[in-house]
Parts: sequence; structure tokens; C-alpha cells
Amino acid sequence: MSNTISVEDQKVLVARTAIDKLISEGLIYSGMKIGLGTGSTAMPAVKRLAEYIAKGKLKNIAAVPPSFQTSIACEEFNIPIFSLSSGRINGSLDLTIDGADEIDSKKNLTKGGGAALLREKIIAYNSELFVVIGDETKSVKTLGVNFPLPIEIVPEARLSIMKKLESYGVSMIIRDGIRKKGPVITDNGNFIMDIKWPANAKINPVKLESELNAIPGIIENGFFTQKPPRVFLSHSNGTVEEF
Ligand code: A5P
Repeated sequence: MSNTISVEDQKVLVARTAIDKLISEGLIYSGMKIGLGTGSTAMPAVKRLAEYIAKGKLKNIAAVPPSFQTSIACEEFNIPIFSLSSGRINGSLDLTIDGADEIDSKKNLTKGGGAALLREKIIAYNSELFVVIGDETKSVKTLGVNFPLPIEIVPEARLSIMKKLESYGVSMIIRDGIRKKGPVITDNGNFIMDIKWPANAKINPVKLESELNAIPGIIENGFFTQKPPRVFLSHSNGTVEEF
């Protein structure tokens, strides 16, 4: 018999543990404004939050979703949602909790595997506290090498962007839909380009995060280096580490 738990179970474990701990520390509380992320780790966190709301332990929560996936989940679980620019939210949040594709030892992140990086970054960077939840497979030494960096781009600029990116020595691909012919169209009507550095590349995600956005047609990239998160990471032995 094995003593390890699956990656899927680790996602649920880390999501529930983080929500429970943040509530016990008073960082998730009634009346707060909360950003809720996208993806298979964020979803069990949304569900856990909804359980507290349904039991009446959290009241008057105002959530901001960064994607259709999260909006639909909130509607299903009766979590009231608002836009970031609504009067109730007024452009800033108390806390955002979200997953990540990669986390390095400096707590820099790659995000956007679910194509929601643009609005995920907007809510994360406009939150007092940013919390990231992930399973142990998300912890890496170098970002952008194993998991490609997603970039949200204006469709019209795809070739000019590719030409500019040639000097970075990356491989590039426009992400295709699954069970949809042609490219993924983001929740904001754009394309996603996935770029990957060679295994031995020395990359500087802090520099690249701002540098890439200066290329005309790039709307946002999936490096998150400007808002150091509190990280919860689950392991296959059933423990959850915090750093
Ligand atoms: C969505 O665009 C992403 O940024 C997700 O947070 C990220 O892809 C992690 O997703 P999973 O929790 O599904 O691995």
C-alpha cells in the first residue's frame, strides 16, 4: 500500500488547508473583498470558501473573479461577484488566492496555463495580500524552461511579436483550443502565445516581466515577480508547507 497522495488530492488538500488557515488567522473575514483565481487548484479553494459562506461563518463577502471559469463557479456556489471597478470593490482587494504553474525559490511565478493571466495579474497586484496555492510539482529551480511562459497578445500582432522574440532564443507557439478549431481566444478576446527557453538558459524573470510587455502587441505576460506571495505547497506525503 502506498503512503502517497495523488496530485489531484494534493490540490484539494492545499486549497482547503490554505482557506482554513487564513480564516483562523483572521486574514479571510466577513465583509472582505477577495480575489479568487482560476484553475484546478483555485477551484477547490472557491468551493471551500463557499462552504464557510453557506454555514454563515463568513458573511457579506465580495469576490472578484478573473475568468469565466471562476465567475461560473462563484455563481454556482452562491458567492457574490463584483467587477474590480465596481463601487463595492473600488479598484483594490484585501486578499487574492490563486494557483500557479511554476514557483521558484524566490517566490517568482509563472501563471497562465489556464489562459487567465491578464486579469489574474490585475487582481493579484491590486491586493493587499497575495496567496498562492500549489502542489509540489509546481516548485522549480528555473521558470520558463519546463513550463512555457504564456503571453496574452493582440491577434493582429502575432507575427511582429514572433520576430521580436527571435532574439530571445525561445521557441514559440500560438496556443490552440481543445475541441475548438484554431487558437484559444482568451476571456478578453485575445490570443495566447506560449514561449519556452532552452533547458540551459539563464533567464531573469524580474527583468523579463517588464521587458516583454514593452513589445507592441503584448498585453501581459505570465511572469509574476512584483507581488511576492505567501505560498502554500502540498506534498505527496500529505503535508502542506508554507513559505
Ligand atoms: C490560470 O490561467 C493559471 O494561472 C492557473 O493559476 C495556473 O495555470 C495553475 O493552474 P492549475 O491549478 O490548474 O494547475
